[in-house]
Amino acid sequence: MIDFDTKLVHGRSQNDNTTGAVNVPIYNSSTYIFPKVDAKVRWDYARSGNPTRNYLEDQIAELEGGYQGFAFSSGLAAIHSVFSIFSPGDHIVIGDTVYGGTFRLVNQFFKRWKLEFTAVNTQDLAAVKKAIKPNTKAIYFETFSNPLLRVTSVRKISKIAKKYNLLTIVDNTFLTPYLQQPLKLGADIVIHSATKYLGGHSDVIAGIVVTKTKELAERVYFNQNGIGAVLSPESSNLIRRGIQTLAVRMDRHLSNTQKIVNFLQNRPEIKKVYYPGLVGTKDYEIAKQEVNGYGAIVSFELQDNLDTTKFVENLKLIQLAVSLGAVESLIELPYKMTHAELSRKEQKKIGITAQLIRLSVGIESPDDLIKDLRHSLESLN
Ligand SMILES: Cc1ncc(COP(=O)(O)O)c(C=O)c1O
Repeated sequence: MIDFDTKLVHGRSQNDNTTGAVNVPIYNSSTYIFPKVDAKVRWDYARSGNPTRNYLEDQIAELEGGYQGFAFSSGLAAIHSVFSIFSPGDHIVIGDTVYGGTFRLVNQFFKRWKLEFTAVNTQDLAAVKKAIKPNTKAIYFETFSNPLLRVTSVRKISKIAKKYNLLTIVDNTFLTPYLQQPLKLGADIVIHSATKYLGGHSDVIAGIVVTKTKELAERVYFNQNGIGAVLSPESSNLIRRGIQTLAVRMDRHLSNTQKIVNFLQNRPEIKKVYYPGLVGTKDYEIAKQEVNGYGAIVSFELQDNLDTTKFVENLKLIQLAVSLGAVESLIELPYKMTHAELSRKEQKKIGITAQLIRLSVGIESPDDLIKDLRHSLESLN
């Protein structure tokens, strides 16, 4: 048995080319030759299967401890294919702070196709149980919520789901298999926006699904092939390559984040810091049982009299942009950017105020990042 970090780098050995290439080639072929009309060929048409994409799919299935992986053209395409395994009239309990694009898909698309959803705080296990109905088929949530990093226990939700014969579906974009493997904690399907840490360089949009069982794999594969939002060979290669450096990137993301959290906690301009690694919080108590690190997203509120727009615009190194999980640090104001489509009332209900800032900590020198934050904080006084 080799260690997880070694698996990240080596993946599956390559025996399918005649050149001795260390890495899987990028197979830019949309179609494949049938030696005979009746031949049973492994590859026939690239929507149905492509060797480069398939390499990535096997790589991620192995890392998540699942039966089969699937690569999609975006995280939302992955989520779309997973919700599409259900039928009109089915009901799904969904986390009330899931990614805004997931909410849009649920409310403006799947509801038209008569899937029912109830949004609840999945940290509140009693609320989850109360939301279950006779037609409920699954519980869907994000392990660390966005932008307030509320932690949901995969183990506890999976236990409830099993009792009621439901599927547990986890969007684990914020953690990656390096920090948590939800299938091993009881989940049935894990999803990633591979656009984030798996790719890691803000240069590709991609989505991943891994299922625990063959039966679920068949249902997801039907949708991947039938709907057709597959990841291109070039993009599959970028995610494959990103995964090779996941461990070293995540280690640096984590140590930088811890330094930044310590810095923020000691600044008078900061009213509150949200980070699941903060000892003494409920989120920490849940997370510490199930993760190997507390992630590299930190949110914080400036004191009421300080201008958050000025703060983010005065930063020199940290870039003002949505998205997260990249080598470069990205910062944003959720109320005006990632969560702008929510009304002020809805934002307030889930704790998003004009004072809240979300920072995706990159792998730059921590001293430079802290210098940048300090400089901008001081410019506010
Ligand atoms: C947690 C989470 N899930 C899914 C998505 C959607 O992924 P994509 O943008 O790759 O479609 C995002 C995007 O920000 C996300 O943050």
